[in-house]
Amino acid sequence: MTQPNARTPSVPIITIDGPSGTGKGTIASLLAAHLGWACLDSGALYRVLGLAAERAGLDLEDGEALGRLAADLDLAFLDGRVLLAGEDVSAAIRTEAAGNAASQVAAHPQVRAALLDWQRAAARLPGLVADGRDMGTVVFPDAEVKIFLTASPEERGKRRYRQLRDQGVEVNLKQLVGDIAARDERDSQRAVAPLRPALDALVVDTTTLNIDQVLERVLNLVRQIVEERQGTQGADSTP
Ligand code: DC
Repeated sequence: MTQPNARTPSVPIITIDGPSGTGKGTIASLLAAHLGWACLDSGALYRVLGLAAERAGLDLEDGEALGRLAADLDLAFLDGRVLLAGEDVSAAIRTEAAGNAASQVAAHPQVRAALLDWQRAAARLPGLVADGRDMGTVVFPDAEVKIFLTASPEERGKRRYRQLRDQGVEVNLKQLVGDIAARDERDSQRAVAPLRPALDALVVDTTTLNIDQVLERVLNLVRQIVEERQGTQGADSTP
């Protein structure tokens, strides 16, 4: 797998975890752009693996084979695009089917172990914003700021429905809400790195908030934490 450099221990990290449809990907990239930091979309890794597995005709229940595929995955993030063996798969990994395949492959411990170093190696100065399901609990347990975004399943279904409709994709809202609930269930009930807030995560319910309001709230939380640290350590890098 094409890997970034090894993790610099002093790199500041903000993790943004939560279920799908909470806006965490959008918030993570806006926050990273605001801070001038790198951004890790960890879900894209699992989505690319799901796509590669289906193309290779692998059984999505076969953890051993999927773990080997993950270890050899020729994946790169370039200028906002996701490349699998040099092919731009940015659009192909965003479908509902790719999300469901990602959730299935992500349940295997062999897969999560194979992708762990790759994710940690994405940390680089001046800082990293990482979004996913287990960024604050497993991948970056020592992150400076941990945010966990939530929203009601109905609201998340409606958001996804509007997004797909705007892309010209015909979907049934009831089925979409059902699929989201099934994916949440699989992501939160799996034995390894289940979806849950870290004990020290700050939970933000986005059900009644738009993206600008969520970003403002998250930025305020980040500033508050950095200021509290400065009070105790005397550092100076307010976002
Ligand atoms: O964030 P997303 O919807 O792109 O993620 C797709 C799937 O990948 C999600 O249903 C579960 C899995 N995933 C995971 O298990 N751990 C992560 N850190 C990110 C995603």
